[in-house]
Amino acid sequence: MIVPVVNASTPVSEIETPVLLLDAALLESNINKMAEYARTQGVFLRPHAKTHKCTVIAHAQLRAGAIGITCAKISEAEIMGYAGIKDILIANQVVDPGKIERLVSLQNYCDVKVAVDSIKNAEDISLAAHRRGQVVKVIIERDIGMKRCGTRTLDETLRLAGAVSRLPGLELAGLMGYEGHTVFLTPRETRLENCSQAIEILAETRDAMEKAGFSTEIVSSGGTGTYDITGGYKAVTELQVGSYATMDWRYRETGLGFDLALSVLATVISRPDRQTAVIDVGMKGVTSEFGLPVVKGIEGAEVVSLSEEHGKLELSADALNLAVGDRVELIPSHGCTTFNLYNWVHVCREGLLEGVWPVAARGALY
Ligand SMILES: Cc1ncc(COP(=O)(O)O)c(C=O)c1O
Repeated sequence: MIVPVVNASTPVSEIETPVLLLDAALLESNINKMAEYARTQGVFLRPHAKTHKCTVIAHAQLRAGAIGITCAKISEAEIMGYAGIKDILIANQVVDPGKIERLVSLQNYCDVKVAVDSIKNAEDISLAAHRRGQVVKVIIERDIGMKRCGTRTLDETLRLAGAVSRLPGLELAGLMGYEGHTVFLTPRETRLENCSQAIEILAETRDAMEKAGFSTEIVSSGGTGTYDITGGYKAVTELQVGSYATMDWRYRETGLGFDLALSVLATVISRPDRQTAVIDVGMKGVTSEFGLPVVKGIEGAEVVSLSEEHGKLELSADALNLAVGDRVELIPSHGCTTFNLYNWVHVCREGLLEGVWPVAARGALY
């Protein structure tokens, strides 16, 4: 891995590019805002680390009051767990025999819980845990309308809860359901309506599990776009929100009050004609998952295409003054799929570099 050569207090305009740039004050403000919401609402916060994959940010979220961290993969959980995070939920299925062994081993470092949505997966985890004299906490993943993972019916959910309760080496810790199909809906009324329908499925499932005598100590749900809808349900005990910490323009467009803390800093490397600038970052350095990135703070500069290592800007108005060597900040359409393109995130405050943090779980996809 190439370690960036930097001096703290370097002006942002002098950092060599392209780099992933994070505004520390805006990050802190986002983290505090969500923490404050959770506190006043009386719901726990377990931020999803898939957004930033950065143990430094995860620890900042814990310091602000989060009870633990959510992860997407066993490898992500290992990195967070070995970095001292004590309470982790893998909001995903861990299926491979080798990965299940790692899940059992990770119990020696932290309290790690995992989602299951099939009896077969529960049996496999039970076998591995029991053989090693360990107990793995599992939560049932219920599909609440996204039609990705998760049990599809209440009966199926109760059957799985029954199996988990009977299997040795497992402890049933509760339930999760992710309302991902609703998080970007606009206007807010549409989001509210669709999210409410989803969370009502989760609440109904929780009630049925309780009635049948199963533990629902954890009921985890929530995306950034719906945090203040989902968080308002009594049935939901914790929020597994991710993007709020750093944000992106797609989420910003839904009218959320979190700040755009993340950008990609690039340099103009060519001004081949009056209305064109070429920058030194392309699709290997910024996602186009939900659309092209947007130029921050320069009137009349628009990204019109990305190739591997080049970005092409069309210029008008103030942007016509851009010159070779000038810095340009891009706001990605999606923070989560931009973070994982970088080994390091450059953290700045009031225009000066404050630190360079490793994106420790970059590439932790396995
Ligand atoms: C299972 C799960 N939980 C929570 C989230 C919340 O993410 P965000 O807050 O970025 O919308 C996601 C996003 O992909 C997810 O897949």
